[in-house]
Amino acid sequence: MLDLSTSIAGVKLRNPTILSSGILGTIPELIKRAFENNAGAATIKSIGPKPRDGNNNPSVVDFGHGLLNAVGLPSPGYKNMDMEFNELSKIKDVVIWSIYGSKIEDFVNITKYIIKYKPKMIELNISCPNKENGMLFSQDKNCAAYVTKAVKNAANNVIIIPKLSPNVTNIAEIAYACEKAGADAVNAINTVQGMVINIDAKKPVLHYKRGGMSGPAIRPIAVRCVYDIYEKVSIPIIGTGGIMNGRDAIEMIQAGASAVGIGSAVYYHGIGVFGSIVNEVKEWMQENGYNSIKEFIGIAHE
Ligand SMILES: Cc1cc2nc3c(=O)[nH]c(=O)nc-3n(C[C@H](O)[C@H](O)[C@H](O)COP(=O)(O)O)c2cc1C
Repeated sequence: MLDLSTSIAGVKLRNPTILSSGILGTIPELIKRAFENNAGAATIKSIGPKPRDGNNNPSVVDFGHGLLNAVGLPSPGYKNMDMEFNELSKIKDVVIWSIYGSKIEDFVNITKYIIKYKPKMIELNISCPNKENGMLFSQDKNCAAYVTKAVKNAANNVIIIPKLSPNVTNIAEIAYACEKAGADAVNAINTVQGMVINIDAKKPVLHYKRGGMSGPAIRPIAVRCVYDIYEKVSIPIIGTGGIMNGRDAIEMIQAGASAVGIGSAVYYHGIGVFGSIVNEVKEWMQENGYNSIKEFIGIAHE
């Protein structure tokens, strides 16, 4: 019997696909649609400390090999989301609650507020442009460790997953610092910094000018990051970046991911992509004589 399940820090997922943060928002009905379409887990859009509008349009552009976005973390702010939180907390499937802040206290305050809704897992978005001392929390191992430890202390045993940025020299070192600070798992990667210029208008296409790249163009970057992290830490890794189909998911698992984040593929292929990825993984396992996902996590290191 083929076992497609996997686990992240002791929490069982029926299959290794996870809806990535920022793709279907925080509205419970949309998150439920991911599960109805076979996602193993689903991450909500990062919740912020205060009401915040997004950036002006254009904020997302398809550049042919992926997407460049600077949506700018629009959020009603955690104090205005009780109705959504209440509904999210009733979902029996594995919902990952993503939070962001510009100060460590933001992460701690949001965590203290949301734990009454009993989230199974909290992902720390320390890898988008929220600056303290002029850099992302995930661009400095001490900052990454400090925020991880502070949230872990505030979280009453909730599973904590820092989400890491590829825009660093040594991502494995940062993952290791998070592990030492008490992270239960890590997610790699968030978007890759980029820019697209309209040569006729002679201006960057995005209103915000700079953006984060996602989709097929970043897959080799993400695979390399996961491969490096796997060699350095023993906590589970959620491998995210450019996964479009079952073969991409298998590649990420072979690099060391226990589960895979699916973001831009939902834009390109629709919500049915979870089901098709799971079916393609299943077929590959049958053809290659594997009975469980666990048998080939990190196998590319052997
Ligand atoms: C439009 C858009 C919005 C995003 N918003 C968030 C967010 O709120 N929080 C977060 O941690 N990541 C966010 N991300 C990053 C994704 O979760 C994911 O890490 C990234 O897109 C790489 O995966 P992909 O290539 O499968 O899309 C966003 C990505 C996109 C394209």
